[in-house]
Amino acid sequence: MNYKDAVIYQIYPRSFADSNGDGIGDLPGIASKLDYLAELGVDILWLSPIFDSPNADNGYDVSDYEAIMPEFGTMADFDNLLAGVHQRGMRLILDLVVNHSSDEHRWFQESRKSKDNPYRDYYIWRTPKLTADGPAEPNNWQSIFSGPAWAFDETTGEYYLHLFATKQPDLNWEHPPLREAIYKMMRFWLDKGVDGFRMDVIPFLSKDQTFPDYPAGRYGDSSVHANGPRIHEFLQEMNHEVLSRYGRAGEGCVSIGEGIGVTAELANLYVGKDRHELNMIYHFDHAVPREEYRFVDPAPEFTVLELKAIFAKWNLALDSIDPATQATGGWQNIYFGNHDNPRCISRFGDPERYPYESATMLATVLLTQRGTPNIYQGDEIGMTNCAFDTIDEYNDIQVKNAWQALITQGEHSPEVFLATANQIARDHARTPMQWSDAPNAGFTTGQPWLKINHNYQTINVSQQEATPRSVLHYYQKLLRWRKQTLAIHEGTYSDLLPDHPSLWVFERTLNNVTFYTVANFSGDFVVIPVIQGVSLSDNQLVLANLPNQTDTLQPFEARIYERKKTGISDE
Ligand code: GLC
Ligand code: CA
Repeated sequence: MNYKDAVIYQIYPRSFADSNGDGIGDLPGIASKLDYLAELGVDILWLSPIFDSPNADNGYDVSDYEAIMPEFGTMADFDNLLAGVHQRGMRLILDLVVNHSSDEHRWFQESRKSKDNPYRDYYIWRTPKLTADGPAEPNNWQSIFSGPAWAFDETTGEYYLHLFATKQPDLNWEHPPLREAIYKMMRFWLDKGVDGFRMDVIPFLSKDQTFPDYPAGRYGDSSVHANGPRIHEFLQEMNHEVLSRYGRAGEGCVSIGEGIGVTAELANLYVGKDRHELNMIYHFDHAVPREEYRFVDPAPEFTVLELKAIFAKWNLALDSIDPATQATGGWQNIYFGNHDNPRCISRFGDPERYPYESATMLATVLLTQRGTPNIYQGDEIGMTNCAFDTIDEYNDIQVKNAWQALITQGEHSPEVFLATANQIARDHARTPMQWSDAPNAGFTTGQPWLKINHNYQTINVSQQEATPRSVLHYYQKLLRWRKQTLAIHEGTYSDLLPDHPSLWVFERTLNNVTFYTVANFSGDFVVIPVIQGVSLSDNQLVLANLPNQTDTLQPFEARIYERKKTGISDE
């Protein structure tokens, strides 16, 4: 199967399934759920980081890229998991976190010892800037997790760069031995049979070596760090040295870039057919904005009008030719939820009044879009945001650091902060998977590392397995249908009603076969539209989340039609 035809399922290992009662999800836990995942009908499993780590950022701070985090198990557990995935005809991809490592990585331990240590240039060190007020940070860059992006290190009297936490020093991709060490590590996993990588903040790898201050008007804007001058050279080298040598001829192993700071206009430079860089990229245009100040001044949620505009723009951009490079025909990876965003049903649906309807409506839209979709763990049962009552109930370093800056050291209202965090924090996606109504949602027999959502007795896998009309059964059905429907994999995309304030109606066409997705993104009743003089409902209904056959869509109703030869836009 081509990566364009696949469906990806993202696992956050810490929160998926705990096999030994220590309250932390682990690899044997994942292995015990492989039948569940195969039955769901997904093709590729993406594991968030499983490598040894002090967990400053839950594994996105790697201290040994070739060792398994002891809390998650052993290398034998990993080999067993990989074999189990392959036996079931699925593929496994790992999270490649190589913009930065942990400060506890051996390379950094060496690097900070002296200026002439062989590992010094594995990281980005700069002398203090001399100002009227004394020595200061080399420039004004800010960490995405609050405060300056430079940390002073006493031993050698220099600053190192960390675009994330101080415990996540940025690796220096300008230094060839570092790049070779990373490629070697990638080969280690691919030689084991791993099928590819999701690549963390990949556009950050190359930095402007003059380290200029933020441009005027963009202070603290993290996209400034993206798309540096040598990024495409580095990715082409990585592709040549590693990616192209594995997987399928012509497409290499699976490679997905986390496209932070990548605009639609730049996308084909990363994924265009003749670029020899990555298979796919996913963008941040509909991610929840979460700069530090957002915790007291949240952005309004995206409306369906905005979502449609974003998806249309990306589809158009990927299908176009880049005028400068002629790069063409790139592919994207699409998502509504992941471990860095609140739950999609809480953002775009109505989990209180329409839990089944809104979860299945979102599934219908995501899984019939053009692009390789990611299902985030728990979305297939409609898991929701969690009510966190105090700052201590959170785990995420981003929320903790923002609290420290805005509340402990700042003068903002703790009530406002807590109310906002209950909308935007990343921990909403990280509460343990809800397997059953047993204590701790069947996730662990011990004390879970993060709060379990209070609603686990009504929203859980076993309950939905036993209920014919459930979000889970709808996902299974939709995925089975999708698998054999080529037009949904690679057909063209066109938004039929970009200006409709509550419906998302789009067409997918391949070789004269056309499907229409009609989705009601609102809690209102909406009359099914007539397009070019023909009612959509005159086409052949293939799938729907509600039994309703009338011409009025119910709240969050979604339907998929196949065009009848006598239907609309028939030539
Ligand atoms: C990516 C990850 C996020 C992590 C950050 C730093 O955005 O998805 O979870 O905190 O990179 O590694
Ligand atoms: Ca465990």
